[in-house]
Amino acid sequence: MLEYNEIFKNNKRWIQEKTKINRDYFRELAAGQEPAFLFIGCSDSRVTAEELMGAEPGEVFIHRNIANLVPNNDNNSGAVVEYAIRHLDVKHIIICGHYNCGGIKAAMQPLDLGLLNPWLRNIRDVFRLHKEELQAITDEEARYKRLVELNVQEQCTNIIKMAAWQKSFLTKGYPRVHALVFDIHNGELIDLNINFDKTLESIREIYDLGTDTAGAE
Ligand code: CO
Repeated sequence: MLEYNEIFKNNKRWIQEKTKINRDYFRELAAGQEPAFLFIGCSDSRVTAEELMGAEPGEVFIHRNIANLVPNNDNNSGAVVEYAIRHLDVKHIIICGHYNCGGIKAAMQPLDLGLLNPWLRNIRDVFRLHKEELQAITDEEARYKRLVELNVQEQCTNIIKMAAWQKSFLTKGYPRVHALVFDIHNGELIDLNINFDKTLESIREIYDLGTDTAGAE
């Protein structure tokens, strides 16, 4: 178990390791960031975004919350996505769910969890949208796994509803949206290979914000 006092010792060692390879490491890091990726993952302590992708500081803009959600009226994740697209000009947006997600499991329990209720309701909404498919899965573990995947798919769809994403994608062809799942049992990062081009077509029938010029820079 990591003790509080150890984190400063570890930090000093990390500084030494970085500057041993490159004396100007932190001077260069301080100069600015140009990450090509936005990663949205779960707050779960086992889902370490940079480590599992082999990314270095400066390479990935990161947002984490319970069950990797991008709810329609959440200003926090919304601001992260907006900033990543319009100011950092990221090329890829990754939504990464993970199997054994406590948030997903909690959402499916018939419990009043106080302040967590409205947050977890977003996951119940995903369940409702895919009720037929999910209720047809008899194995409980398999049903949770599928809900983890469908939740990632729906959060990706929420990004596709956003004006900043539609405007960037329709004019520049990026950022591409990727639905991933981290399998906590073996460490594997799985691309669900969902093609969101079709999603964009159907989304634009209702949520078309990408063609007017208001709000553009
Ligand atoms: Co989780």
